[in-house]
Amino acid sequence: MNLKKDEAQSLVAEILGMLHDEELRDVSVILCPPFPYLSMLVQQTSAEKRISIAAQNCSDKTQGAYTGEVSAAMLRSCGVTHVLIGHSERRSHYLETDRILAEKIKIALAENLTVICCCGETQAERESASHFETVGKQLESIFSSIPSDQLSKCIIAYEPVWAIGTGLTASPEQAQEMHHFIRQQIAKKYNEEQADKVSILYGGSCNEQNAKELFGLADVDGGLIGGASLKSRSFVNIIKSV
Ligand code: PGA
Repeated sequence: MNLKKDEAQSLVAEILGMLHDEELRDVSVILCPPFPYLSMLVQQTSAEKRISIAAQNCSDKTQGAYTGEVSAAMLRSCGVTHVLIGHSERRSHYLETDRILAEKIKIALAENLTVICCCGETQAERESASHFETVGKQLESIFSSIPSDQLSKCIIAYEPVWAIGTGLTASPEQAQEMHHFIRQQIAKKYNEEQADKVSILYGGSCNEQNAKELFGLADVDGGLIGGASLKSRSFVNIIKSV
């Protein structure tokens, strides 16, 4: 919940101005603005085929009398192609459970949106060494909504809750270990060939200093960037390090 409309528009204009075709050739950039700016940014980025627009959330209902909610179908009708589901702030501040998130995934996929499904453990869970169990359970629930023929419409974002907005980053060993675990879980549920193709993003205080090392890890395919995406130069440098 950052930036007013004009500020958001300027930020995207600056980002577009700094990115050149060769930097975007092998990279997909997905911008996730707040709801009111989605249509504006769909238009603003329409000439850039490697840039997509995602919503940060969608409703767990398809349509009807749910005042204040935004449906996956509405997003699709505005030209949005991706949606973030289950960010830890949605889970903790808005009490979104695995069951609710599984419903959102189903509905978003039915609207042909690509889902960016977030998972990650809290500090207490890591300290008590139950991080694999936590993430394993979250993934099980996510996978329950994704049939095998829809897995190509799914991106996983691993975001240790203790690293989001805190300046703490998972060490390369911690990130690789969890990303490898996530890929194994995907292979178990679907198959290895499919698991190899799923993008698994790392999120949590990723910045222009640590991005290159994180993105260089075998099972880290990119990043989910929060604070560092609010400054055009740092965001573009992160994109370049992919
Ligand atoms: P951060 O946020 O990069 O500021 O830690 C990540 C996120 O919100 O997912």
